[in-house]
Amino acid sequence: MSEESFPAVPPPGPGTCVRVDARGTPVAVFNVAGTYYAIAARCPHRGGPLDRGPVSGTVVTCPWHGSQFDLTTGAVTRGPAASGVSHYPVRVVDGVLRLELP
Ligand code: FES
Repeated sequence: MSEESFPAVPPPGPGTCVRVDARGTPVAVFNVAGTYYAIAARCPHRGGPLDRGPVSGTVVTCPWHGSQFDLTTGAVTRGPAASGVSHYPVRVVDGVLRLELP
């Protein structure tokens, strides 16, 4: 694991999400009541944009066919997606987003 910083991308405000390119992988970073969560942004079902899905609690719903993923782990909690997505440790230091990448 190594940490990558994204100084050009403002961290998401409460209740919002930003999408970053993490070494070629799109990653969605969510701010849920002040806690940041980062998961792969591409839905494993058909590639839907999870960064554009509605969030309820710590669950995001894919806007294309309704699969749901736990933001705390990346695990799928409702299909049709058959698998979860990668989950990345994330933090904000001095206003800069930082992700732990494999
Ligand atoms: S692309 Fe996400 S549920 Fe189909």
